[in-house]
Amino acid sequence: MTDASPPRGRFITLEGPEGSGKTTAARHLTEWLRGRGAPVVLTHEPGGTPLGEEIRRIVLHMRGMSDDLDPRADALLYAAGRAQHVARVIRPALERGEWVVCARYSDSSLAYQGAGYGNDLGEVRRLQDFATFGLRPDLTLLLDVPVEVGLDRTRRRAEWNRFEDTEAVAFFEQVRAAYLRLADEEPDRMKVVNGSGSVEAADAAIRVIVEPLIG
Ligand code: TYD
Repeated sequence: MTDASPPRGRFITLEGPEGSGKTTAARHLTEWLRGRGAPVVLTHEPGGTPLGEEIRRIVLHMRGMSDDLDPRADALLYAAGRAQHVARVIRPALERGEWVVCARYSDSSLAYQGAGYGNDLGEVRRLQDFATFGLRPDLTLLLDVPVEVGLDRTRRRAEWNRFEDTEAVAFFEQVRAAYLRLADEEPDRMKVVNGSGSVEAADAAIRVIVEPLIG
């Protein structure tokens, strides 16, 4: 008997607070999957499309410059970028049978726009469903690091000096706790990976989790 269904790509997202190593882990995972013969689109949020990159510029600039970005406006901006990203990049790739590896997706909005910036979590969830046509990842890798470790790494990269104050630490504690709650709620989809060790250790842990998804 022949199987007529096309090869199915998987949608994998990487999440975690600042400095947790998502970008490196996403790149290494992509290289590894390609080495195994899987066609992979590597992408990220905020961004991933021309519109998304414009929105990224706006949200990061606003956040760096002042605290004056209204939480709902913030949530809608990320959602707009996500809608474009799903429609133009992620869904088409999955429909072609390709894999998609994406650094940050809807869980970032639940953790940051919900828990961090105080939008109602149920409303942020509904907004994600609207923006993504209900497209959820097959697997989400949550790179977990203690807040101070992550902030230390980002400080070394000389990003965002607003991280210095204690208010920022409290904010990121909330974000981290929200991520861990999400992982508790959906243990099949969301796997916690220790992000405080070496890059090699995180890569190895991720491969063990992803291996069973490769047909
Ligand atoms: P990112 O480029 O991943 O930065 P980092 O590598 O430091 O994690 O994300 C930039 C910022 O955007 C980050 O502070 C998290 C924030 N963000 C949200 O608040 N909501 C979202 O939905 C997304 C995708 C990102």
